[in-house]
Amino acid sequence: MKGAVLFSSRYGSTEQYAQWIAEATSLPVFNVDEARVELAEFDFLVLGSPVVYYKPMFRRWVKRNLDDILARPTVFFSVSGAGAGPKLDRWMANSLPASFMSHVTHMALRGRQDPSELNAFDRTMLIIAGLFNPDRKAAKQEMRGFDFMDKGRIRPIVEKIRKLQA
Ligand SMILES: Cc1cc2nc3c(=O)[nH]c(=O)nc-3n(C[C@H](O)[C@H](O)[C@H](O)COP(=O)(O)O)c2cc1C
Repeated sequence: MKGAVLFSSRYGSTEQYAQWIAEATSLPVFNVDEARVELAEFDFLVLGSPVVYYKPMFRRWVKRNLDDILARPTVFFSVSGAGAGPKLDRWMANSLPASFMSHVTHMALRGRQDPSELNAFDRTMLIIAGLFNPDRKAAKQEMRGFDFMDKGRIRPIVEKIRKLQA
């Protein structure tokens, strides 16, 4: 079975996870915002997207490519500040088609946010979000940043891919 890793990334952490997964599985890797990829060439897909402002960044790409995605086994990894749980599930359900969410195997990874890397708009928005967030732990992360990058977390994704390759 021939597969590919396809991702969006705003500040590089989803790209880093995509590269780690590609290295571990020898799959080709593509940034969907830079390359037009013919999904019909692949038997299965591994899709990665960060959560930005409560929405998966690649949601429009998913909607444009929905038929091709639904036609092949798909692993979807999200990268966010929030960990797996009802909040993340709600953000996904609000922005991605129900048919997509019930089709994919979703794995939630946590990423990185370095305030010094953010553009002025994002930095300002995250400070405002932090000021109004009643969850003070999450608010601190929004304002001061975080680094949850962990290569070990790709293991279940790699195992799932190896089963698809077998
Ligand atoms: C502008 C911006 C908005 C974000 N919004 C959310 C959010 O709504 N929920 C969340 O859990 N994480 C949020 N994050 C954290 C990102 O999901 C996290 O930093 C991720 O690693 C970014 O991936 P990237 O480096 O591939 O762009 C946000 C980060 C930025 C920079």
